[in-house]
Amino acid sequence: MSNKLNAVGILGIGSYLPEKILTNQEIEKIVDTTNEWIVTRTGIGARHIADENMAASDLATEAAKKALKDANTLPEEIDLIIVATVTPDMHFPSTACIVQMNIGAKNAAAFDLGAGCSGFIYGLTVAKQFIETGMYKKILVIGAEALSKVLDWTDRNTCVLFGDGAGAAVVGPTDEGMGILSTYMGADGEGGKFLTIPGGGSRIPATLESVKNKLHTIKMDGSEVFKFAVRIMNRASQEAIDRSGYSLEDINYLVPHQANIRIIEAAAKKLKLPMDKVHVNLNRFGNMSAASIPVALDEAVRQGKIKKGDLVVMVGFGAGLTWGSSVIKWNK
Ligand code: UT7
Repeated sequence: MSNKLNAVGILGIGSYLPEKILTNQEIEKIVDTTNEWIVTRTGIGARHIADENMAASDLATEAAKKALKDANTLPEEIDLIIVATVTPDMHFPSTACIVQMNIGAKNAAAFDLGAGCSGFIYGLTVAKQFIETGMYKKILVIGAEALSKVLDWTDRNTCVLFGDGAGAAVVGPTDEGMGILSTYMGADGEGGKFLTIPGGGSRIPATLESVKNKLHTIKMDGSEVFKFAVRIMNRASQEAIDRSGYSLEDINYLVPHQANIRIIEAAAKKLKLPMDKVHVNLNRFGNMSAASIPVALDEAVRQGKIKKGDLVVMVGFGAGLTWGSSVIKWNK
């Protein structure tokens, strides 16, 4: 048996957004905010919202079906399903197991991964190890979020920021020198308090009191997360580029986490990339946590902004605090 590691790439990609769109103008009627504040402070103009009866697994399932089709892969060929999410359908079973059932991937193992908005990069990193060693051939990595379900719709600090959606990728072997060239993950638990859903777990179980106090909704210290994000986006991107063996000048396209246009612009500036080389969709989708990066990647590929052979940097940060980055030489 050879010790040589397989090259690993994205064989197919897909995304799904629920139909309903909530504009800033509509949010103006819900909380004390203005379209002007939201656009100038964040860049967000609208977000998609899942129906009452739609959970993260439903969004994930639709995205997974599209990725399978794009990869020309049957559900039975999938060895593992990883769903990165902070809004699982329930504590257990995992959302990944529900997706496994929904798509009929009966040969797949399945688990959820909790790394906040960095979840998709974390998932890709995990998948890469299994494919590299030859243990698995095809892995579905999905970022899926129904964040509208865990927002406090009376808190203007958070409810204007987030949206629902899912993106999925089929990960498998590719040609030498192509595909996922590097990944980098990091965490800082000290900053966990800045972005959290405190209630509903084993620390603060759901009680009438905890629900009344809305402890099952997102709490965020926006300016602390902002400072961290600006710092980490640049550092994490640079680290992934260094590990890839390429340099900054070689990068063709940046697919960043979609939290705030000011954070993205700061990262692009430090990386000396003009904004037409940076994917931005938060104006239409808001921040979809673990779904933001795969949805943006799917869109960029479909719009022809990423072509075979292009060097793409993906970078994200989020609850944990966590961060993750990756350089891909697009192999499709
Ligand atoms: O995926 C990772 C998760 N999150 C993030 O990445 C978020 C990172 N942080 C941010 O994007 C920004 O910090 C925010 C967009 C959340 C906030 O922008 P900011 O420029 O840092 O504003 P701020 O928190 O300093 O608040 C400025 C003011 C405050 O009023 P006072 O206290 O100065 O009177 C807020 O109450 O803006 C007020 N404010 C709003 N006003 C109108 C906060 N939210 C709103 C709102 N509409 N929706």
